[in-house]
Amino acid sequence: MRIEIVYHSLSGNTRRVAELLRSRIEGLGDSADLVEVHDLHQYSTLTAYMIGAPRAMRGEVGAIDPAEIDLAGYDVVVVGSPVWAFAPTPAANGAVAALHGADGKDAVVFVTSGGAPGEAAERLGTALEQRGARVRGAVQFDRRDLENEERLAELVAIVTRPPSDG
Ligand SMILES: Cc1cc2nc3c(=O)[nH]c(=O)nc-3n(C[C@H](O)[C@H](O)[C@H](O)COP(=O)(O)O)c2cc1C
Repeated sequence: MRIEIVYHSLSGNTRRVAELLRSRIEGLGDSADLVEVHDLHQYSTLTAYMIGAPRAMRGEVGAIDPAEIDLAGYDVVVVGSPVWAFAPTPAANGAVAALHGADGKDAVVFVTSGGAPGEAAERLGTALEQRGARVRGAVQFDRRDLENEERLAELVAIVTRPPSDG
């Protein structure tokens, strides 16, 4: 199986989970590629709270680099986001919007948060479904426990499940 892991990360937590996921997937003999998306706004921690969080709450779709993400040849796409104001980040919404070939693709969501994720994972899953993806599930990580074995195993199991038919 080929798995594309697309994520946004401001302070590194979501990147850490994405990297752990890739190494677990590769350990099982599947292949995984990482795509980190960058918000063209280039938030500092301060502007992330002042400007980014209200945008996240409104569900805004941020302009990102790369502007397009091609899913051709991938069996599953994983989308990871930090939680901002109980929502996915504008850049993570931008990543979903940037996907090419999402229609009919199996998808998995993960988020990292400070412990109050709100509806972030559900909102990201809904955005993927609106692009035609089939969302298998979502896993939430607490930033104080990113290497939680149970959560990682759950995420790996969902991601590496053979693709559904049709
Ligand atoms: C602007 C901003 C808003 C945040 N809002 C929330 C929140 O609503 N709930 C929560 O539990 N954590 C919140 N956090 C904490 C982040 O979700 C958490 O630190 C996350 O792991 C950061 O991921 P990253 O290191 O990949 O950027 C917020 C952080 C920032 C910078």
